[in-house]
Amino acid sequence: MSRSLATTDLIQASRQPLAPLPELLDPARLPAHVAVIMDGNGRWAKQRNLPRVMGHREGVEALKRTLRLCSDWGIGALTTYAFSTENWNRPGEEVSFLMTLFERVLARELEALEREQVRIRFLGDLEQLPAGLQRLIEAATARTAANTGIHFNVCTNYGGRRELVQAARQLAAQVATGTLDPEAIDEAAFAAQLQTAGEVDPDLLIRTSGEYRISNFLLWQLAYAEIHITDVLWPDFDEAALVRALLDYQNRQRRFGGVEPVEA
Ligand code: FPP
Repeated sequence: MSRSLATTDLIQASRQPLAPLPELLDPARLPAHVAVIMDGNGRWAKQRNLPRVMGHREGVEALKRTLRLCSDWGIGALTTYAFSTENWNRPGEEVSFLMTLFERVLARELEALEREQVRIRFLGDLEQLPAGLQRLIEAATARTAANTGIHFNVCTNYGGRRELVQAARQLAAQVATGTLDPEAIDEAAFAAQLQTAGEVDPDLLIRTSGEYRISNFLLWQLAYAEIHITDVLWPDFDEAALVRALLDYQNRQRRFGGVEPVEA
């Protein structure tokens, strides 16, 4: 047996079986990219008389479930909002808990991410994060960069407006040095400066816990996304909730500003 075959066998043997796509869903009309605002961790904990941070810990389990299902069902990209530029305003204890949680989860899950061929990237101003977390992020990004599976983007210290300002600044700098003609700035040139460059725009945005806001998330990229809002709190988000979101998406007629539905 050749060496590469033995390695493949090993990977397959250690991988959990793929979750089948529920029959209710049309495999030909799944979104290519799902974005998620994971909201309601604090309320989930409060309902159980637990400290808020327990909600975040349980939220990690919901995230792992969602990533695995999206990956198994062939969804190309999952982008989640883990920490916004505004989240620094939370109590210091909660912020440090979250930073430590990100570190622990990343260190613990890296091997599984590699095994499952997940390509992980972190979007946001990463230099403001604790040094240990930055190192783990660099390592995880590098180690999974060539993976061929789902693109898993974790928005951390991310703000949509800040991302747009940075893109404008980068273009302005190129104009100032004479390497870019202002007339050449079109939507594609602008999108190429965003942290999501190279990723298709999300087709579906899911927001949990019943809030009707986009909270400074992917302001450019969500221009034509279908929005699914559920009352389910993020730690309770499970396969049934994901199926409901995908069914809702499949029942929409996407017209992108035109009059005729556009097929995915
Ligand atoms: C919002 O709920 C949730 C967050 C700000 C944190 C989400 C983070 C995780 C689920 C962990 C992700 C881990 C990794 C490694 C990516 P909330 O606190 O605003 O809930 P509330 O609105 O009920 O108060």
